[in-house]
Amino acid sequence: MPLFTIKQALLEQSEPVPSIDREFFQHLRLSNGSFKTTCDNRLNDVNSYVDEFLDFDCELKILDVAASSAISSVEWFAHLQKKSLKMDYTASDLTMVGRYYQTGFTDLLFEKQTGHLLQADILGQAFPSSSGVRWKNQIYRLLKASTSPYRNKGKEIKLVNRLAARCEQENSNFSLCELDMFQASKQLNSKSFNVIRAANILNRSYFTEAQIFQAIKQLFSLLDDGGFLIVVKSEDDGMNNGAVYCKKEKTFEHLGTINGGSDINELVRSAGRKN
Ligand SMILES: C[S@@+](CC[C@H](N)C(=O)[O-])C[C@H]1O[C@@H](n2cnc3c(N)ncnc32)[C@H](O)[C@@H]1O
Repeated sequence: MPLFTIKQALLEQSEPVPSIDREFFQHLRLSNGSFKTTCDNRLNDVNSYVDEFLDFDCELKILDVAASSAISSVEWFAHLQKKSLKMDYTASDLTMVGRYYQTGFTDLLFEKQTGHLLQADILGQAFPSSSGVRWKNQIYRLLKASTSPYRNKGKEIKLVNRLAARCEQENSNFSLCELDMFQASKQLNSKSFNVIRAANILNRSYFTEAQIFQAIKQLFSLLDDGGFLIVVKSEDDGMNNGAVYCKKEKTFEHLGTINGGSDINELVRSAGRKN
């Protein structure tokens, strides 16, 4: 599959092109080792499955953590809107804003907070942080070292899907924000939620068990009593495995299994018990 440039993916599309978004984001590796991989229609079966747990008579405060480009958030928001759910939906991610800098024939995209190089394009050739091609990765590493003087330069650029940016403009009950799930309770200033979704983030390939445990405890503290935590992991074949938990009397009760279930079930249960 082709690698897309920063211009093609973030600056030139007047309408979002799903294939460009999918390819572009999956090659961006963040400084903490996680990937921005996401795509349209990735979580459709999860959206439908979760309906049965939601109270459509109440207004719900929903938090989507680690939403990446937020395309999956827009889709869930639209799904719930169609069912007339009243809600306040927050789509969040550690990195929703990057820094874009142009020098000569080179375009650079950095993480705003850390200055980590996400992608460099030279003469229209893309060198993302994880291209999957060895020689390209080597060039990326050279570029990373040589472009560090520019890491805090350039203009801010949103790392979200155009539909998500538009959805935020058009709906006062849909917002995008940067949020580190490890610092969530502090950053959100004791705001609480009825539903939290953590899809493709509580992964052992990204974090240690201790870190995942810490993140779950943070999410637990953000939930109202009776609130739901939805955990999902999408496998390479597209299968979404996961679970739905309910916060009840200081514990997480397992309510439902999504396809093959969650591989961090025990961690979630024990993070609930230790609160
Ligand atoms: C694989 S994507 C998940 C995208 C989306 N939830 C989905 O399932 O399609 C992982 C995302 O986690 C975000 N992330 C990594 N560390 C994070 C943290 N500490 N807090 C919040 N988000 C984080 C990354 O920026 C990236 O966008």
